[in-house]
Order: sequence, then C-alpha cells, then structure tokens
Amino acid sequence: MSEEDEAGPDLSDGVRVSDLPLGALVGGSIDGKAIVLANDGGRVCAFSGECTHLGAPLVNGLIVDGQMRCPWHHARFSLDTGEAVGAPAFKPLTPYQVERQGDRYFVTKPADRPDSGQPILGTLPPVVIIGAGAAGFACAELLSRSGYGSSVTVISADPDPPYDRTICSKQYLIGQSTRDDCFLEGVNFPAGEGAALKISRSVKSIDLAAKQVGLEDGERISFGSLVLATGAEPKRPDIPGFDLPNVHVLRTLRDADAIIAAASKGKRAAIIGASFIGLEAAASLRQREVEVDVVASDAIPLEKILGSAVGTMIRHVHESKDVRFHLGRRPVSFDGRTLKLDDGSQLEVDFIVAGLGVTPRTQLAENAGLAIAPREQGGGIVVNERLETSVPDVYAIGDVANYPDPYANRSIRVEHWVHAQRQGQHVARVLMGEDAGYSDLPFFWSAHFDTGLLYLGHADKPSVPGVAGSIEEQNFVARYAGKGGDRAVVTCNRDKTALEIEAIWERSGTPAA
Ligand SMILES: Cc1cc2nc3c(=O)[nH]c(=O)nc-3n(C[C@H](O)[C@H](O)[C@H](O)COP(=O)(O)OP(=O)(O)OC[C@H]3O[C@@H](n4cnc5c(N)ncnc54)[C@H](O)[C@@H]3O)c2cc1C
Ligand code: FES
Repeated sequence: MSEEDEAGPDLSDGVRVSDLPLGALVGGSIDGKAIVLANDGGRVCAFSGECTHLGAPLVNGLIVDGQMRCPWHHARFSLDTGEAVGAPAFKPLTPYQVERQGDRYFVTKPADRPDSGQPILGTLPPVVIIGAGAAGFACAELLSRSGYGSSVTVISADPDPPYDRTICSKQYLIGQSTRDDCFLEGVNFPAGEGAALKISRSVKSIDLAAKQVGLEDGERISFGSLVLATGAEPKRPDIPGFDLPNVHVLRTLRDADAIIAAASKGKRAAIIGASFIGLEAAASLRQREVEVDVVASDAIPLEKILGSAVGTMIRHVHESKDVRFHLGRRPVSFDGRTLKLDDGSQLEVDFIVAGLGVTPRTQLAENAGLAIAPREQGGGIVVNERLETSVPDVYAIGDVANYPDPYANRSIRVEHWVHAQRQGQHVARVLMGEDAGYSDLPFFWSAHFDTGLLYLGHADKPSVPGVAGSIEEQNFVARYAGKGGDRAVVTCNRDKTALEIEAIWERSGTPAA
C-alpha cells in the first residue's frame, strides 16, 4: 500500500464535488495528518480525521443532525465547531478551512475555532457530585468545559483520579496501554480551571433537609443540587476461601493493578462467571500467556444477553485461544491453590478473578429516603425522565440510576460506559437550564481477542428474530426481541450499520424489530 493509500488523498490537491454527495464523508490528509471532509446537507466542512477518544477513523462514521458520529464507540462531534458534544470523546476536533474552486473542494489549513457561544465563566448554586466514575466525570467535565466548574465539587472514594474503567479489562490488562494511558482528560477537568476534585474521600451521609453531604472524615459540604453517581459494586460470592488475597474482582484500576501483579507471578488463573467482564479478563490474561479456566453456571457464555448463536461464537473465539470452559459448573471451595467445583473436579490455580456481576450502590440514597426500584425491576435509584430522583434537585446517573427508557417504554437500569457518561452530560445540561428528557439509546461494546461487538438498545430475556450476515464469519447484525417492547441489536464488524440503526431508531422514537 502506498503512503497516499494509507493516509488517503492529499486534500490540498482537492476533491471532486461529485465525490462528496450530500451526507457523505471523505477521508484524506493534509501534511500527513488525517482529515475528514463532510457534506452536511450542502454545507461542506473539514476536521481532523481521528476521533479524540481512541483514534477511530471518522471517515467511517455517520452524519446525523449536524453531528458526525464515530464508528467505534459512537462519540458525537458538532459539525459547526468540532466540539465533542456526546461522550465518550471530550476533546474537540480541529476544524480546517475548505474552499470550493470550480468543481473541486480544497482543504487548506486549520481554521480558527468558531465561538461555541458558551459563557466564559458562570455560577450555579453549588453542585456536589458523588462519584468520579464514568457518569460523575462526564457531568463535572461538561460543567467545567461550559464555564461552571467553580460551582462544582466532585467527591470520589477511589484513590485514583478519574480513569477509563473499560480499558481495565482490555488494553491495560493485556499490557497494550500503560497505567498513565488510563486516566481521563477532559476540557478543564480534572486539570485546568474546572470542578474541585476530592479523591480518596467518601460520602457517608446525605442530609436532604440541610442540603449537605457528610464525609467520612467529618467534613460537611452544602449543595444546591446533588448528583449521585455512585456506580455499582462487584458481587463477591459467599464461598469458602473466596476471601483469600489471591481472589480478585475487577472494578477499579487498583483491582486491575492487583490482577496484573498476580499474572506476573502466577501462570494459571480461574475466572468465575462468563460475564462480559469475566470473559474480557480471560482474553486479556491469555494474551499475557496465563493459562485460563472459565467456570460458569451458564450453559453458553453470554446467552442471556446475546442468545445462543452469538454466545457460542464467543465461546469458540476463546477456545481458539486455549481458554478452557467449565460450563454448568459452580465453585464450592478454594484453599488458595485448589479450586473445587460442584461436580467434584478440581483446578490448580495461582489466582482467581470473580466476574459475577454488580449491585448498584444505593445505600446512601436509601438512608436518605430516596425512592429505590425493586430488585426485580433492576434495582437502583428511581429517577424521572430528567434523571431527577424522588427529591427535587437531587439527581442520579449511570449504573446506579433506574430511569424511564423511552424506547423500552419502561424503567430500566443499565451498566454501560457511554450510557453513564451521556447521563452525566444530560444532568449537566439540565443544571445549566435545559429542560429535556434523557432519550439516548443504551449502547455498549465488548472486545474478546480480535472480536469486537457493539450492542444497541435493551432486550431482557431476548430471543433472536433475525440475523443478517454470518455469525460464524463474525460479520453480522443480530436483532433481538425482548420482554414487552424491548428491542436490541448486536453487530460484529458492521460498525456503520450500528450507527445507521441508531439514527433510524432515534428518528422513529422506537426500535422497530
Ligand atoms: C473492567 C470493566 C470494563 C468495562 N468495560 C465496558 C465496556 O467495554 N463497555 C461498556 O459500555 N461498559 C463497560 N463497563 C461498564 C462501565 O464501566 C460502567 O457501566 C460505568 O463505569 C458506570 O459508570 P458510573 O459512573 O455509573 O459508575 P462507576 O464508574 O462505578 O463510578 C462510581 C464511582 O463512585 C464512587 N463512589 C461510590 N460511592 C461513593 C461514596 N459514598 N463517596 C464517594 N465516592 C463514591 C466510586 O469510588 C466510583 O469511582 C466496564 C466495567 C468494568 C468494571
Ligand atoms: S474511538 Fe471514537 S468513540 Fe471511541
């Protein structure tokens, strides 16, 4: 492949007008830098061509309603300014100047960023955000980026500054990313003139009458608005020996550090639970040359979410890399070395990673008297369409929130990174005066060795009504029908299709089967 093929055509030589029809994206380069040229309803604009999240080529994305959407994890960029208006990207794209001469568009040089119209500095009644995970970070970041950072205090029990939890089971656990790569950077937050961040500090109580939170060390902080972004806690099974130090869970960066340390000393691991986290950890540890046994009560990995055919494909992906499965089995005891299963078999392992799902952290909210959803409805803190709890000026976002999903036509609680970030951004906008309901479709991705899946929508107890493409060849769209009106799709190697389906569902207001 020539250099030009890799970088795309040199856009200073121009692109034929006929090669950029309405709605099209064309990739190329200027001075060796990737550029994407967009025709948004006749308005032609150009931006740096790599997504500011993890560098996806935006030329493979989609234009929707004046925004460009990234093919990998669906970040959204304004085509007016290049601003990252929808997580998981936070930093803007660089705009470039475009000139039309005759029948060609020429991209010339970086353009001045247009004024986004945001206030330079503003104040709000004090905002306290509990938790600096996906949701809390995104809320604080957008408030900081918009000039309101001085009104915001974020309190985080985690000893590390905000980081990308998703790479803790993938790139960081594999060894492809360094620890420093894990930390999140926004505009003005956590560095810059943004919100105050208190890490290693835990909120112990909420006094709704006094509008104050109480910290473990006795400090009390007053709020005008309170945002609960406390996330979820990994389940620790009540099995003899599962309190030993070589039994790990994987929720935090420190958990990932501990597993990496265990993998550097030990050569055999058991993963308990064929969950997304469990299987991602299995794949990452195999890539560190650790022998991996997965013990799970399910007959087929991920069947409850993805159905039997896709679950079986994922199993084969793992088995092709020598992951061993013990399906339909439960662990009964561990003595630090020998893991006994319920059929009497035993595994000799150096360490265990339990990936058995999570429980929403609702204790603070419960103690304060906020409405909590019943467990059979997903649990979590009940919020309305603005993500406000049963008490005015108190919001809940992310894994801990049970919110009315307009697509499923009922309240659900989901545990996805982008969803948590978008809810954080939504509440930031509500606090800045926007009066809209949250209406983003749930979305997540998962990666197993070289196989990536994108999931859109929500389907409880899914059946698979249709598959386009080939699951075996890992090139497909599978559509799911769930309980009531639930609908979801999973795509593999069809990133653009996932974006197109998302846009169609958003426009119709319903995920048609
Ligand atoms: C290893 C791993 C990989 C994942 N990969 C993916 C993926 O690929 N794609 C995807 O869509 N999703 C993924 N997820 C799920 C995703 O990370 C979560 O849905 C998301 O982090 C939820 O964000 P949150 O802000 O609601 O909660 P969290 O990110 O859990 O943050 C909650 C924060 O609140 C803090 N906190 C809790 N209680 C208190 C208190 N009392 N005082 C102060 N602070 C408190 C905690 O310390 C924590 O930092 C992954 C999860 C894990 C663990
Ligand atoms: S690379 Fe663009 S959203 Fe992740």
